[in-house]
Amino acid sequence: MTTLARAAAPTAPVPTDAADLTLRRGAARVLLDNWRGGSTIPSRGLYPHQWSWDSAFIAIGLRHLSPRRAQRELETLTAAQWGDGRIPHIVFNPAVPLDAYFPSPDFWRSSTAGAPAGAPAPIETSGIVQPPVHALAAWLVHTADPETSRARGFLTRLRPRLAAWHDYLTGPRDLGGGGLAAVLHPWEPGMDNSPAWDGPLARVEPVPSGTYRRADLDHGHSAERPTDLDYGRYVRLAADYRDGGYQDAGEHGFAVEDPGFNALLIASEHALARITEATGGDPDPHEERAARLTAALVARLYSAEHGLFLCRDLVGGRLIEERSATGLVPLVVPGLPDDITASLLATARGDSFRLGDLPLAPSYDLRGDAFDASRYWRGPAWFNINWLLERGLRTHGLPADADRLRESMLHAAGASDFAEYVDPRTGEPRGTRSFGWTAALTLDLLAARATAPAPLPAQRATDPDPHASRTQERNPA
Ligand code: SER
Repeated sequence: MTTLARAAAPTAPVPTDAADLTLRRGAARVLLDNWRGGSTIPSRGLYPHQWSWDSAFIAIGLRHLSPRRAQRELETLTAAQWGDGRIPHIVFNPAVPLDAYFPSPDFWRSSTAGAPAGAPAPIETSGIVQPPVHALAAWLVHTADPETSRARGFLTRLRPRLAAWHDYLTGPRDLGGGGLAAVLHPWEPGMDNSPAWDGPLARVEPVPSGTYRRADLDHGHSAERPTDLDYGRYVRLAADYRDGGYQDAGEHGFAVEDPGFNALLIASEHALARITEATGGDPDPHEERAARLTAALVARLYSAEHGLFLCRDLVGGRLIEERSATGLVPLVVPGLPDDITASLLATARGDSFRLGDLPLAPSYDLRGDAFDASRYWRGPAWFNINWLLERGLRTHGLPADADRLRESMLHAAGASDFAEYVDPRTGEPRGTRSFGWTAALTLDLLAARATAPAPLPAQRATDPDPHASRTQERNPA
């Protein structure tokens, strides 16, 4: 038996403080209400199916309620993996009416249009991807209850799927040829209407607005959602990709290297090394790939002049000079050069993001012309990004700053009824409420507060994550 296998998962006590208990109950209620028998929807109105990176963040919190359900969350998502290795950004629930969400399964037509790329026949999915948080989530879920995980063969089943996913991203998706994964649609890096996409999107001819119906505006305020012009371009890009059989080789209207997406791939590659080791394999190839990706991230996307990572437009090859929170996400990468880490931290604390000063870090430069405190990814603060920054502060040895951010996030999550996003200056809720990953990451932060916080998986970290808990399964799957 390895050290890892023998180590008991630490227990995160249920909070005794009344406010914490209320917060924990509220967060648990959101996850229970949003559970659909095999996965968790992000929200009941706006997002009624299974979303890829939502599921990963949700699993990270769900492990504190039911490690078994958290395992199922990742199993159902990865069961929809395509033959070429991609994990689709939406797995559709056939019981949900077609008009509840757009673009619906009859738009993506994955089982037919995606067949050349190996889309599964019995299930409908979208054809694009989202940030690869999954191996990181799988490792954290495993550490919550290693015994059940082993008994169910969780890592043994997940490992080949996660390896194929990373092979896809580092293979066919290395469209720039520089060793990073490219994204082909603004929804792929998850920050749909980031001002960083305004330049690349300006080249895209929108489809006429009368040719589809936006279901999102049935549930969200139009001032807090992407514009119709952006939607027309999103639909054009998705339709073109579909009509090309979801093939990655060749020309694309939108092709960008995103630092947040690639930083999460690196964090997940480190986690995949731990998963491989725990299932009796050789972790070295994954550590080596993480090191290569880190070198490529620094070489291709770091801007010393801006003091953070930028996106690279692969059409034309230039860096996009917009300061977005995606450029801070590489703080989760262990082993960045010290001078880059120092400069990233200075940028995070500076006038553009005011980390440690405002309640939460914004998604976009507070001083940027395009800053909008309410509109989706053009300024509002998101809990998953702030959770990553919190973990990044710990990774770089700044526990007091991380603790402050954690308390601020917990306060904002509770006060906003687990909002999808908030005004970063005031914490006022924006978007939908009872949002899955806001609730899930609240549970994770509460559990972390009750134990010794741990860094993200890095080289040869053989102890289970002390954030993980084995609290009683109140609603076993
Ligand atoms: N975030 C997109 C939406 O709003 C797609 O994933 O529907």
